[in-house]
Amino acid sequence: MPKFVAVTSPGLTEALFSELESLGLKKLKTHLSSVEFEGSWEMCYRANLGSSIATRILLPVLEFPAYKPEDVYFNVKKHDFTKYVNANGNLWVDAKVDESAIRDQRLLAMKIKDAVVDQFRDKFGERPSVNKNDGLSLYLRGYKNNFVLSVDTSSPALNKRGYRVKQPEAPLKENVAAGLLTIAGWDGEMPVVDPFCGSGTILIEAALRYMKRAPGTLRKSFSVQGLKIFQEEAWSTALDFVISQEKDEGDLDLDQVRFYGYDIDSKAIRMARENAREAGVDHLISFQRKDVVELEAPVEKGIMISNLPYGIRVGDEFFLAETYKNFAHTMKTHFKGWDVWVLSGNKDLTKHLSMRAEQRFPIINGGIDCRFIHYRVNK
Ligand SMILES: C[S@@+](CC[C@H](N)C(=O)[O-])C[C@H]1O[C@@H](n2cnc3c(N)ncnc32)[C@H](O)[C@@H]1O
Repeated sequence: MPKFVAVTSPGLTEALFSELESLGLKKLKTHLSSVEFEGSWEMCYRANLGSSIATRILLPVLEFPAYKPEDVYFNVKKHDFTKYVNANGNLWVDAKVDESAIRDQRLLAMKIKDAVVDQFRDKFGERPSVNKNDGLSLYLRGYKNNFVLSVDTSSPALNKRGYRVKQPEAPLKENVAAGLLTIAGWDGEMPVVDPFCGSGTILIEAALRYMKRAPGTLRKSFSVQGLKIFQEEAWSTALDFVISQEKDEGDLDLDQVRFYGYDIDSKAIRMARENAREAGVDHLISFQRKDVVELEAPVEKGIMISNLPYGIRVGDEFFLAETYKNFAHTMKTHFKGWDVWVLSGNKDLTKHLSMRAEQRFPIINGGIDCRFIHYRVNK
């Protein structure tokens, strides 16, 4: 049975583990920012189509130590890459390396590309073009001079669902938003309120989960579909499986809005509405322009989950201190008894909430070290 690796952002592995388990995947093993599983190609396709928290599903094909670029070239030649695409197909390589003698990621990617291209040239006298679309996508991960080269079955990354037609300045990745919903223990039914919704990612992910819509069914394609080893029948079975998990129309309360997004910026609200329409969930979400200082609870009982502005990219820290104080006032006045979860990358700002945290989870969001903090507002 092949071994696959589902990659996610650090901090979301436990959430990913339970999601993969619910998709029926077996022999799961957690690593720092990934979950390994063993299974048929159908299971790999299931993960691609059904996971909301993974960013890529990799098939590791080579593992080797390397201290100079030539070691990489030499090792890559040990695996036959001509079985994945035709000589006139496309090839793309991404490399990420930490704490190793070879530091130049572009050079590493080039060495791999050269080794693969030489294999094709030697065998067919022709070589694939270097192009990101529709072809063989390879991913090299190096850590402490040990390298794993994998075939990326997902490319483009799974968080690119395709519904984000408009992007704000500091958007939350779709898979991080999905992971936050799991960590917050959201039951998939309860109303969700996001007072700093930006382009609406948290609420769109919540609405998709409410419908039990497999996020992969929103996408146009996955790199694995362009490979010679692609198994059409197993793909159809995986697709049938994820579709069978979706809620029937009769089980959906389509008339009732249960997701509420607010933002001070009318441009963000327009983006959020457009993105929700693209994702096919606009009928479930109400977006409204509102400063958090004016916000009142739109429903009696719900959960608040939000990605607060934290002054590294959006807004100015001094100015934001006031926003955090206003947010705390709104919670204490209008959201008594609510569970509130906030993602923030600035602990100086969260101090201005003056509330005792119940739990804190470290999350990396767009390279920024953040905390996902749980508060329980007093009744
Ligand atoms: C980090 S962004 C949220 C990004 C969002 N999660 C997304 O996926 O696009 C923070 C948002 O807070 C909004 N904001 C800032 N001050 C606000 C306030 N006083 N009231 C409501 N929203 C505010 C900003 O306009 C921005 O869209």
